[in-house]
Amino acid sequence: MKSEDIKNQIVREVLSEKQIDEKIAEIAKQIDKDYEGQDLLLVGVLNGAVMVMADLARHLTKNIEMDWMAASSYGHGTTSSGVVRILKDLDTDIEDRNVLIVEDILDTGLTLHWLKNNLLSRNPKSVKIFTLLRKPDSLQMDVKADYVGFDIPNEFVIGYGLDYAQKYRNLRSIATLHPDVYSQKS
Ligand code: PRP
Repeated sequence: MKSEDIKNQIVREVLSEKQIDEKIAEIAKQIDKDYEGQDLLLVGVLNGAVMVMADLARHLTKNIEMDWMAASSYGHGTTSSGVVRILKDLDTDIEDRNVLIVEDILDTGLTLHWLKNNLLSRNPKSVKIFTLLRKPDSLQMDVKADYVGFDIPNEFVIGYGLDYAQKYRNLRSIATLHPDVYSQKS
């Protein structure tokens, strides 16, 4: 791949920056309404959710708090390994708090199924899930997202926080990669 420009390495734009922003703004309005008069802690799942967390938080008009967890279910490939590892726990005590998990993607559901149960065991007031993307055809676990941005087909996507081998997270849109990228060594 000669060019370093990410745009030259994608095959198809799946969701534009504008589509993503409009959808997050719409869902933020709903969240503001649903949590009116109530405390709200956003829990972002590192690393993929950094972009969606930053945009969702700034579209909300109510005062919220943010914390982060890292739980990895992927290796460096393009399919789920089936193993969840905690890489970073919350700094916040969530007992009696309203928690909204913020995710970039609900794929097999392994991460969110595990994470929701883990947070529920800490006696919060409530735990809900917001995911920007959901792959209904890939879902293997019984996990329900309360707020969903877009349902997408079961194909590997990158951008807006989503990576391939830790790269492409900084693309503003969501896209599929050129097959040549997967055949390269680094
Ligand atoms: C991705 C994504 C979700 C999870 C979804 O994270 O951000 O957390 O996989 O997949 P699942 O529904 O099959 O569990 P990943 O483990 O790749 O880490 P990252 O956020 O650092 O990219």
